[in-house]
Amino acid sequence: MNADAPGKFLGGRLVVFGAGYVGGAVAREAAARGMRVTALTRNPETARGLAEAGVDTVVGELADDAWHGRIAGRGADFVLNCVGAGGGGLEGYRKSYVDGMRSVAGWAAKMRGRAGAGQSGIGAGIGVLVYTGSTAVYPQSGGAVVGEEAPCGERAAGGDGRARWLLEAERLAFAMQAEGTARGVAVLRLAGIYGPGRHQLLDTLRDGADALPGRGDYYMNLVHRDDIAGAIWAAFSSPEAQGVFNIADDSAATRGELCGWLARQLGRPAPRFSGVAAVGRRGALLHRLIDNRRAKAQLGWRLRYPTFREGYAPILSRLLGGGRDGEGGGGFGGGRDGCRGSVGG
Ligand SMILES: NC(=O)c1ccc[n+]([C@@H]2O[C@H](COP(=O)([O-])OP(=O)(O)OC[C@H]3O[C@@H](n4cnc5c(N)ncnc54)[C@H](OP(=O)(O)O)[C@@H]3O)[C@@H](O)[C@H]2O)c1
Repeated sequence: MNADAPGKFLGGRLVVFGAGYVGGAVAREAAARGMRVTALTRNPETARGLAEAGVDTVVGELADDAWHGRIAGRGADFVLNCVGAGGGGLEGYRKSYVDGMRSVAGWAAKMRGRAGAGQSGIGAGIGVLVYTGSTAVYPQSGGAVVGEEAPCGERAAGGDGRARWLLEAERLAFAMQAEGTARGVAVLRLAGIYGPGRHQLLDTLRDGADALPGRGDYYMNLVHRDDIAGAIWAAFSSPEAQGVFNIADDSAATRGELCGWLARQLGRPAPRFSGVAAVGRRGALLHRLIDNRRAKAQLGWRLRYPTFREGYAPILSRLLGGGRDGEGGGGFGGGRDGCRGSVGG
């Protein structure tokens, strides 16, 4: 079903957990589509901004159950769990992703069987749950093409243990479907996110850097924030298309190619790479191509920005035209392209 079908989501009830860069953008878009939207955030300032966009907000910690009674007990047609690690290293991953998903499951179970559970209808606590996971669950490198069936595991994300919690959150999400608390579950494994207000590589080059830390010879695997939103809407539109989906754009570009292209747009020479990892860089640099064909075939996902060239063009034109690139960024800018939260692909 076409996610853009007029009226498709009108009046539907959406709950967003983790109203950050992606979740905040989807919450705003949903309110603009005429949906009834509630978003959970720990941040009162974020809550104020979302309220101005017509989103009901609840300030709370996802891993607690204190918010359960404050997110109306009428169930939800659509639920988006978009929380990030929230700081705090590995413990932060466990708390936000695993304890957070457990809390969502507990809330959904309380909704089960309640009369008038939104359009989800069939007595499930919630309709479709979309969880934005990460391609960081894949350990593959060496130029491999990585589809959803590729083995995942603890060695992934540089073997630092994050993959374990990301995969556990996926398991908990699918358990909600098996137990009948969610009508359908789609896990979107996101590649590195960039978009309006999130383009640190570009900013670094614009600031005049002629050398960058790290290497340039590995595939970046990026995806534009608005294409992630598109994938989320496509998943909400396809309750029958459940499972795991890789969400990455069509580029097969190395970091060197990306930086060279960006530098050219800025009228600068291509940067050199120091070969020394950036301070604080976690995990190994994995050289692989994330295969996005399943999401296109099964969800009908269409990329608005198939490669970084289309994605960065409007950002560059705003910046080079003297404008401010906060557009749609909701004030969450400043992260590294594809690396905020450091779970990028
Ligand atoms: N960045 C990447 O390149 C990348 C790559 C692959 C996957 N991902 C994943 O994609 C998703 C969306 O990423 P994003 O860039 O939108 O992340 P983001 O901007 O960091 O937003 C995530 C939000 O989650 C909220 N949050 C974190 N822990 C929470 C908790 N325990 N309770 C309540 N809220 C909590 C934070 O909001 P408050 O502080 O306002 O509460 C934060 O704004 C995340 O799951 C992320 O891990 C990211």
